Amino acid sequence: MTGKRVLLIVGGGIAAYKCLELVRRLSERGVGVRVVMTKAAQEFVKPLSFASLSGEKVQTELFELTDEVEMGHIELSRSADLLVVAPATADLMAKLANGLANDLASTLLLATDTTVLMAPAMNVRMWEHPATQRNLEALKGDGVLFVGPNEGGMACGEYGPGRMAEPMEIVAAVERQFAAGPLTGLTALVTSGPTHEPIDPVRYIANRSSGRQGVAIAEALASAGAAVTFVTGPAEHATPLGCKVVPVETAAQMRAAAGAALPADIAVFAAAVADWRVTSADGRKIKKDKSGAPPALELTENPDILAEISALPPGKRPRLVIGFAAETNDVLKNARAKRLRKGCDWLIANDVSETGGAMGGTQNQATLITADAEENWPRETKTSLAARLAERIAAWASENETAEC
Ligand code: CTP
Repeated sequence: MTGKRVLLIVGGGIAAYKCLELVRRLSERGVGVRVVMTKAAQEFVKPLSFASLSGEKVQTELFELTDEVEMGHIELSRSADLLVVAPATADLMAKLANGLANDLASTLLLATDTTVLMAPAMNVRMWEHPATQRNLEALKGDGVLFVGPNEGGMACGEYGPGRMAEPMEIVAAVERQFAAGPLTGLTALVTSGPTHEPIDPVRYIANRSSGRQGVAIAEALASAGAAVTFVTGPAEHATPLGCKVVPVETAAQMRAAAGAALPADIAVFAAAVADWRVTSADGRKIKKDKSGAPPALELTENPDILAEISALPPGKRPRLVIGFAAETNDVLKNARAKRLRKGCDWLIANDVSETGGAMGGTQNQATLITADAEENWPRETKTSLAARLAERIAAWASENETAEC
């Protein structure tokens, strides 16, 4: 971690005193720490304590003339390799989740293009409050990373989740962030989940995809160091950690979001995109016909996102495009033809028949089909399959790097 720079934003909570220890432990490891304190944080610890330990001036005000001349707040937020917020109070989380910027800490958080790691600390009821949980999900969706909170007794006398992670746990999370993975420096797009195609305001066409495989792949790529944009249809499964999440509903929205995520080095199309949409979805609920005749739904084929992105010219096309083939019969034969038809580099064929059980289940058995090889992978959990795929992608990245040299 030597030579790395952390901007530590200290929020107003009793756990602020633990951040003195955090600064010491990071400094010992050669990390340069610059501290920003909120007004409330200064009620718990004096800026001088942090200044003594970090050897740097502690910033507290948004408008300090000399600082604006020496280093503007934009520059301050971008000169770091990582922003750490500890303790991340309910207030700081709410501000960033909602894009508020009315003091130095919140302005820095909004102005940065650097990864943000939050260590929340608050009363258990505040942590469990739906508003905080909403903000947590929104922040995760924006790619903010979290360490803690831990469960235990709190300064306020209550017990439960809300204690800030211990300084060494935060150091470990920082270390993980700085450890270069095999995909560090690469960008990836992952599509996931089903799409919902409206019939009328209350009904839609959908499928059984849970989004589990896509989440696992996005997390595996992010853990390997890639900057991942995760475009997901309305899936029941939780969103992946450490990725930028773009929620969509229809195939048309997924196509637009996938296009907006380019350029990317790697694209994995794990979404079970609905093949058809209702040609003119009704703006009003369709009522039953008195004669008992069912409504005639006219369907139009959806755009094939994978085929479109595979057909982009070099420079715009991701260098590695990976599709999935959901098949119920003649799995390999259909999948081989599908790879050629869609123009992707790799295709992961899986059996989604009831006996195959991949769709909606936790396990998967796949065959990786490339231009010149086929690998049969064992039946395994979707997490394990994702790790295997990330490893294969890392091997591709390292071969390509060698080729480019
Ligand atoms: N796909 C896509 N856009 C679509 C349909 C599929 O991007 N409109 C992608 C899927 O994400 C997957 C691959 O194409 O990576 C194959 O999806 P699959 O459902 O197996 O194939 P289809 O193209 O729908 O073909 P068919 O239904 O005839 O098997």
